[in-house]
Amino acid sequence: MDSTTGLMGHFITFEGTEGCGKTTQIIRAAAHLQQRGFTIVPTREPGGCELANRIRAILLDPNSRHMVPSTELLLYAAARAQHIDEVIRPALQQGKIVLCDRFCDATLAYQGYGRQLPLDAIHWLNHFACGDIVPHLTLWLDLPLNLGLERAQERNASQQLENEQRFEQESLNFHQRVQNGYEQLRQQHPRRIQRISAEGSVDQVAHSIATCLDRYFSKV
Ligand SMILES: Nc1ncnc2c1ncn2[C@@H]1O[C@H](COP(=O)(O)OP(=O)(O)OP(=O)(O)O)[C@@H](O)[C@H]1O
Ligand SMILES: [Mg+2]
Repeated sequence: MDSTTGLMGHFITFEGTEGCGKTTQIIRAAAHLQQRGFTIVPTREPGGCELANRIRAILLDPNSRHMVPSTELLLYAAARAQHIDEVIRPALQQGKIVLCDRFCDATLAYQGYGRQLPLDAIHWLNHFACGDIVPHLTLWLDLPLNLGLERAQERNASQQLENEQRFEQESLNFHQRVQNGYEQLRQQHPRRIQRISAEGSVDQVAHSIATCLDRYFSKV
């Protein structure tokens, strides 16, 4: 049980820049943990519930490119508050393991380091949206930017995901600031945020993640 929240479950987040393999690896990690007998709730941000998915559609739509950074930040926070209340907190109360594709670190990396909005305002909003809930473990899938953007572009072409490409259309400088932001966050939270090299094959990365998860669960 978490000594600060009294919640029984475990909250694990997956982070990293576009195309690094978060969605692919969450599926593998869920299968690994299910085999070990855990009950898994896979989810994602922005989104994770019906209302937050409607906010997601606004956030990721290329037609929203005139959205100002502060609106973007507030929409992420609004979606997160709903997601925490409807999905994450109830699952943790029931002792489940929540695997979330992006969370508060993504807002710090993208809207803070990437868009250069004030980090203290983002910390405050994250706390306002989440209350006492903080991930127990965060897996940062670290991949050189060019490889991730290539992977994401190939995927979007084959899956016709043209409605979710707003961030992929940002400049390379923006993505570099985001990547640097994740490194800064790792240095600030060296126990919670574990860096996983995402350069290998899907199987190799899945193996590194399974090792990290097994180490985490051997200590709790
Ligand atoms: N280790 C890997 N090697 C090669 N290709 C990969 C690897 N992992 C994922 N891919 C492929 O790269 C593309 C992007 O992967 P995925 O969608 O899982 O990334 P993501 O981090 O969720 O991206 P986004 O941030 O855009 O949601 C997919 O087509 C996926 O099949
Ligand atoms: Mg994804």
